[in-house]
Amino acid sequence: MLKKMRKRRRQLTSIALATGIALSGLNFQTGVLAAEQGAPKTEQINQNVVPQLVDKASIDAVIAAMTVEEKAKLVVGVGMPGMTIPKLPVQGAVGGTPAIERLGIPAMYYADGPAGLRISPTRPGESKTYYTTAFPIATSLASTWDTNVVNKVGQAQGNEVKEYGVDVLLAPALNLHRNILTGRNFEYFSEDPLISGKMTAALVNGVQSNGVGATIKHFVANNQETNRFTIDTIVSERALRELYLKGFEIAVKESHPKAVMSSYNLLNGTPASQNSELLTTVLRGDWRYDGYVMTDWFAGTDPVAQMRAGNDQIMPGFPQSSERIANAVKDGSLDEKLLDRNVKNILNFVVESPSFKNYNHSDNPDLQAHAKVARQAAADGMVLLKNDQKALPLKKENKVALFGTAQIETVKGGTGSGDVNAAYTVSIVDGLKHAGYSLHKDLVNQYSNYISELRQMEQYKIKPSPWGEDFGKEIPVIPEMVLETNQIETIEGESDIGVIVIGRNSGEGVDRQNVKGDYLLTDTEKAMIQNVSKAYHDAGKKVAVVLNIGGPVEIASWRDQVDSILLAWQPGQEAGDAVADVLTGAVNPSGKLATTFPVKYEDVPSSENFPGTPAENPTQVVYEEDIYVGYRYYSTFDVKPAYEFGYGLSYTNFDYSNIRVNQGGKFKDQITVFANIKNTGKVSGKEAVQVYVSAPDGKLEKPEIELKAFGKTKELKPNQTELLKFELNAKDIASFDEEKNQWIVEKGVYTVKVGASSENINGKATFKVDKDIIVEEVSNSLVPEVEIDRLTKK
Ligand code: BGC
Repeated sequence: MLKKMRKRRRQLTSIALATGIALSGLNFQTGVLAAEQGAPKTEQINQNVVPQLVDKASIDAVIAAMTVEEKAKLVVGVGMPGMTIPKLPVQGAVGGTPAIERLGIPAMYYADGPAGLRISPTRPGESKTYYTTAFPIATSLASTWDTNVVNKVGQAQGNEVKEYGVDVLLAPALNLHRNILTGRNFEYFSEDPLISGKMTAALVNGVQSNGVGATIKHFVANNQETNRFTIDTIVSERALRELYLKGFEIAVKESHPKAVMSSYNLLNGTPASQNSELLTTVLRGDWRYDGYVMTDWFAGTDPVAQMRAGNDQIMPGFPQSSERIANAVKDGSLDEKLLDRNVKNILNFVVESPSFKNYNHSDNPDLQAHAKVARQAAADGMVLLKNDQKALPLKKENKVALFGTAQIETVKGGTGSGDVNAAYTVSIVDGLKHAGYSLHKDLVNQYSNYISELRQMEQYKIKPSPWGEDFGKEIPVIPEMVLETNQIETIEGESDIGVIVIGRNSGEGVDRQNVKGDYLLTDTEKAMIQNVSKAYHDAGKKVAVVLNIGGPVEIASWRDQVDSILLAWQPGQEAGDAVADVLTGAVNPSGKLATTFPVKYEDVPSSENFPGTPAENPTQVVYEEDIYVGYRYYSTFDVKPAYEFGYGLSYTNFDYSNIRVNQGGKFKDQITVFANIKNTGKVSGKEAVQVYVSAPDGKLEKPEIELKAFGKTKELKPNQTELLKFELNAKDIASFDEEKNQWIVEKGVYTVKVGASSENINGKATFKVDKDIIVEEVSNSLVPEVEIDRLTKK
């Protein structure tokens, strides 16, 4: 199809040249490009020459020349693999826009997803491979607290998008970690909207620097997988504005993503893709968004309502959807102007897309360079949770005994559309070998044989998923290998340190569970930790645990038994090498948690109403915890987590000093916060510095603390100091007053808390706001009709 289109455009060019019509610039005789003269009326167009899409200025004339059927075709996508509608030239791409050759509109192609481009690595009848880079999961990227690193990941992802002939990446995803058991949390950044929004903006800016589009998704409040197509999410306007919408607002304003994907769920009673208050009033009105909106795949119930609401494109689309839309225009139930608006929003990106520009993609991105980016990001996102008596880094001469099946079956990322068909995943065992460590070989062999044997068995065979081959594989979890105590003692005698790897995976379509083998460790895993720790400690040796997981697991009950815990997350294809970088000290860990690890699941503020009611088959979920999500809850209600938001250790130490604000502590539209950070340890390292604000209660109650800014130092050498500055403006510190639809900074004394984590505050400063500041008035929208019994401190 693409080739055909290219030929057609070339033909048009030659016809144009022969007839003296320029296909670019503003002198197209038909008046197509008459931007300066205003859009031509249909009757003014020379009927002999069909207007062609040549640039932005030609869009209005092209729309004027489109039939209703053509418009209805363009707003419905193409291409779910395996379906009867056209197969896409980029195998594994999940959709795109149809070509309308008569008008010079080329097809465009879309592919997932958040951890990198997801296309098929092989194509029938070809020996060439089309592997892409599996980057660390979003939760790991957020844990870097480093927008520069994340921007580089975006640049590399966008380059693969472009070089493999795709126009739009269906990522990043930034739903909040409302509940730790959400199956797709690995695709999302954080429980906090500021870090989610900033990370998204950094990624989008990187991806789009290549001239391709990024899609921020899933808009909005798509915070569970259970009944994701039908669940009705009931949430207050304030929680929506301050939390669930906030990251999207930041991303829209700071990175102008070309596309937004509306979500599956209903929002306060209306499917998100049919919700005009969400897609038109808030997104386009309040935020001035000027890209286009597509549905999530097969979302919503009514294509005409989707069009009306401002959901510009239906994905992946059925021909019947186009028919219904065209008929609705004809019978007057859909205003053609609304359809034109949607078509225009799509064409605005079409004219910028690589397909439109006939970009000659190489099918050959620099995968080696991207692997380096992935490895650095992975190591930077790892969080050192515990390191008693400097058990880590490993010493070069250490002989390491590796325990746990995930040392071999290392998990690079979650499953579903967030998976990536990478050429390889470096396992943790291979990572340590590459780093030159001598491993306990018999133990490695034993694990390797155990895994191979089990994987032969029918119940543990890796099968293509029911979603289709490219949608991630269904990987049955194999049970942890049982180790006898005497066996552990022998291995201990033949090694210097025990390193235990615990792995978990989750994916699209199902939420995780508070059960053994998922949130909880299994009995075998617990026995392994206990017995290995005892054997090594009895001999005066150390034990470290590496967590290869996509979201929190229960840690509090076993952490005292081990010396060190490294949270490696699901670090992408370079997993093992990146783990080795941190274990060996080649990279000093500087990651910090962007999501809280609770002591127990019941401590999670939404645990009582997740995933909704009725329990056996939820249809509705009411966000009763309201604005108290994540650390906003733990800090306000004094619930001690296992590891708090913002927490993470280093192999060095940092001293915070001279924490202050300017302007004599008077807030005047903005205020600047300063902090000196000094490396007081013996090795170089980077520190993620967090600025929380405690706002005074006024008419609106406030959480104990809220993250309002963050930054990361450069790599500081021992004794080196860096001065970090953070600017806070009125919108940054405002709260949302839903009675008045205003963002407001209430008067009073605000305390700035600069810290190494949400609990480890190293210095405070205060500033005063003399009178209430109304920062912004927005539309009165998204008011729930259902009464919410909201959590409050009163
Ligand atoms: C997911 C989206 C994804 C789409 C296309 C849907 O099931 O929710 O995130 O982009 O499929 O693969």
